[in-house]
Order: sequence, then C-alpha cells, then structure tokens
Amino acid sequence: MIISQRKVYYNTNMLKLLLIESNERVLRLLSESLSLDFDAKILSCFKPFDAKELINQERPNLIIIRNSYLIDDEKVDIANVIMNHLYDIQSKTPVIVLGEFDFPSGGYEVLPDRFRIEELKRLIIKSLKITPEQLRLMKLPDYVPMAIHNFHLMETASSDIYIKLDTRDEEKFIKRIKRGDSIDHNVIKKYEDNLIQYFYIKKEDHSHLLDQLLQQSLQKIVDVAKSGKSIHEINSETYSISQNLVDAVGVSEQTVRLSNIAIAVMSKSIEAHSELSSLLKDILENKGSYAYKRNYLISALCREIAPHMNWGSGEQLNVQLEKMTYLSFFHDIYLRHENHLKIFNNSDVRNLDIAAGDLVLNHANMAANLLQSYPKTPSGVDILIKQHHGAPTGVGFVENYSSNISPMAIVFIVVEKYAFYILEEKIEDLKKLSVRKFIINRLYDEFHLPSYKKVVDILSRLVIA
Ligand SMILES: [Fe+2]
Repeated sequence: MIISQRKVYYNTNMLKLLLIESNERVLRLLSESLSLDFDAKILSCFKPFDAKELINQERPNLIIIRNSYLIDDEKVDIANVIMNHLYDIQSKTPVIVLGEFDFPSGGYEVLPDRFRIEELKRLIIKSLKITPEQLRLMKLPDYVPMAIHNFHLMETASSDIYIKLDTRDEEKFIKRIKRGDSIDHNVIKKYEDNLIQYFYIKKEDHSHLLDQLLQQSLQKIVDVAKSGKSIHEINSETYSISQNLVDAVGVSEQTVRLSNIAIAVMSKSIEAHSELSSLLKDILENKGSYAYKRNYLISALCREIAPHMNWGSGEQLNVQLEKMTYLSFFHDIYLRHENHLKIFNNSDVRNLDIAAGDLVLNHANMAANLLQSYPKTPSGVDILIKQHHGAPTGVGFVENYSSNISPMAIVFIVVEKYAFYILEEKIEDLKKLSVRKFIINRLYDEFHLPSYKKVVDILSRLVIA
C-alpha cells in the first residue's frame, strides 16, 4: 500500500528541553518522541556536573529529570541536586520529575516511575503553558519516524509499520509489516544493512507503540531502584570468585563489578518464582562449588568479550548481556554432580546409569522448558539454553558443531569449553603463559568453523600478550 504525504518543514524557533536520565534507551525514546511532538531541541545528560553546565549555558525551557539513579554504583538523588542548583542560581525553569519526589520549593511536577507518554506530554503542555493554537502548529506529521533499532526489542507489531520512499517532491509510505504480525529480526537487520534508519508509524498509533517500548525500560529502572540498596550491599565481594582466577582469564575489575550487579538483578527479578529462585540459590550459596565457579566465569567472560561481538550498544547490548547472565547460570541447572557438568559428548553418557544418562542427555531441553514457563525471563534465553551443546533440539551432544544455531549460543559453547579447560588447571599453573597458550590451542583444535574460531581469537587476545 502506498500513501503520499507532503514534506513537513519545522520552524527554527525551537523549544529547548533538557532530559536528565541515565537509562540510554528511555533517553532515546523520549528524545525522539518529544523532539517531534514539540518541535523541540533535546539536550540530554546524566552526570550532575554536566547537567548544571547545560542548564547554565543553554538555559532550557523545561527540565525532565529522573528522581534518582546509580552512577558507578552510587545512588545519586539527581532531582534533588538539580532543584538545589536551580534555587542557587535563582532559575524558575519548570521541572518534571520522573518518580516519587519532594522538594520544599520551586516549580516542579511529579510523574510516577512508570508513566505513560501521554501523561508526560500533558505535563509538558501544562508546565510550558502551551496554547491550543501553538499545539496545532506543532502537530505531528501523519507518519511518525521511529529509529529502526527499537524494533529489535519487539516480538509482535502492535501497529502497521511503514518505510518511507523519498521522491523529488513528496514522500511515499509503504506498509511493510502488518499489525499483529510477528517481527522477523533478520528482516529488520536487512533494512539496517541497507542503511534504513527509521520505520514509520501512523500518527494515531504512535503513542501506543512508544508506550509499549517505554514500559519495558521503565520497569527495569523501577526494579533496580527497588533493589538498589541490596544490590550495592551484595555487590561487595558476595558474588566474586578468586582474583587469581579472574586475572588468569583476563577479566577486568569493571567486568567483575558489572557481572556482580547483573547476577544480583537476575536473582532479585526471579524472587517471585520459587522454583527458579531456589535452584539459583543452590548455586549462588555454594561459592566453592565447581558449578558456581564455572558459571560465574562463563558469565564474566561473555561480558568481557561482548564489546567485540556485534551485539549492538547501549540498551540493546544490555539486553543481550542479561540473556548471557541467565544462560550462564541456568543452562545446567538440573545437573547436580560435578562429573555430569564435565560431559561434552554422547559417548561419555554410556558410562552412566540409565537415569543419570537420561538426565544428562535431556538437561538442556529440561532447563529450556523451565525458563520458558517463566515469562519474565529475557526473551529467547530458553532457545539459547536448548542449543548450549550445539543440538537445536536440546537433546544430546553434537558430533560436529554447526553454525546452524544462534550466534549467541555459539559464543557460549566456546566460552563454556574455555572455562572448563581453565578450571582443570591449578591456579599457579594458569600464571604460566605456556599453559594459557596450550588451552587456547586446544580450542583452536576443536573449533574450526569461522563463527566459533572468531570467539577463540577474542579469548586468546585477553590472555596471550
Ligand atoms: Fe550442559
């Protein structure tokens, strides 16, 4: 279907809105939407110093700010800091605070943590005293652009999705995905490869779609805020393994810190699901166990190599890392014996009794089913768990690895084997370059396909100078 629309030209006398928020995805969604809705220039930052500088230099018409967030694990009551600053410089700039907030003076409005976009827009109109006539001039075009990367996080299209074709004097919009259709992420990737940056949504569907995307990120902010204190407490060493082991595989201090936070967040978010929660607890409370050390090592290694893996950036990367944390701790959740965790081929299963053999052959499939039964876990993690020994069905072990499985499962397979070899060595021996080289060479001997070999290349760069 092709629909035409005249090009829309914006005026140059723009409003300036300052967004102060640490969640990159929320920031991006709000920036895109508000710049269109209010024909506004959007400034953004999250550090208190930068925020004050921007306020002093740019004199924004309105400030939208999160009540508080973590910066380097420290809780910062950012709205409080900024309200004090406005008071000090005697500024009357209106402020909208996202999340519970109270301040003795100044003009500010408060929205709940999980606000809807229409509520925010209403408050902006109220705070800036925008008249209906001005609003009419700011009216959205009939088709509203939305950055294409957002659609990677959607499973189903909640509205029709269009692409735009530019001709010399008009724009044409062609429907590409129908409302209710499931979103094929390979198709999205193809558009990106062809340098298409935006999909277009009809104006009347825009708020609904934006809300759908916003709510996922806002929920995470609320979860982290609620568990903020305990994460900080837990973070101090509770989830760590020996420094020597971490050093031996080239995992940085920063990665250890972020891994610990990710484990704490995961642990917190499955609290309500007693089966998942108690299985995870069994591992987390046995820091000396092989299972704990291996899973921790895998999850930290995945995080360390993530920047080299084309997993996107910002919130998109965080989503992938969250999946890897779940995958690391749940893939072998049904295996209770250390020797079962060390089986990587069907022939070793023959030495086990029937019940143990059955369990080992089916453990990937069973764990995938368990995770699938709990919809709050990151989407797609069940598939990765199923594929973690290379078999798409989650049953048994493959003779030859193939590239017919998810790229993230491939990374995981190589990293798990690496963690296995590392833990077979004594810590003192891992300090020797020759031992580390020997382990990397074992991986090269085993993984020949380019997609697997690439992961070995990255691991080797971490440990062989
Ligand atoms: Fe396994």
